[in-house]
Amino acid sequence: MKILLINGPNLNMLRKREENYYGTLTLDEINRWLTKEAKKLNISIEFFQSNHEGEIVSAIQRATEENVEAIIINAGAYTHTSIAIRDALLIFNKPFIEVHLSNVFSREDFRKVSLISDIALGVVSGFKEDSYYLALIAIHRYFRNKKT
Ligand code: DQA
Repeated sequence: MKILLINGPNLNMLRKREENYYGTLTLDEINRWLTKEAKKLNISIEFFQSNHEGEIVSAIQRATEENVEAIIINAGAYTHTSIAIRDALLIFNKPFIEVHLSNVFSREDFRKVSLISDIALGVVSGFKEDSYYLALIAIHRYFRNKKT
């Protein structure tokens, strides 16, 4: 099974961002770890990061045309603002999980608003890099349970 993991703006700057929210690993380190964990679950995982809203929309559109079965997305600040990303995820029309390293509900009010939560399969927020791992496990279990 193939999934796409999307990271939005400023997530390429992990390790330089607030450690208490985002931990100490770089995005490359997280991705390398997730590749290994995904392999154990028989999942092939592709990574995409962009600081540009339109590029994220295009990545979701490509996933819609290809045989990507699910998306894990940390849209960063675009989570709170982007109708375009929401629309692209609606067109994708397959399961996606919204992820945040920080607990967005313990932070500023504007971070408590998400334009994609209500259409997500689920949301994982607050576990630093483990948020991605938990989303991976959740996707795996979702598809496994669907089959049985
Ligand atoms: C974030 C939370 C967002 O509010 C913020 O703009 C980010 C990262 C997180 O992973 O906790 O860039 O999505």
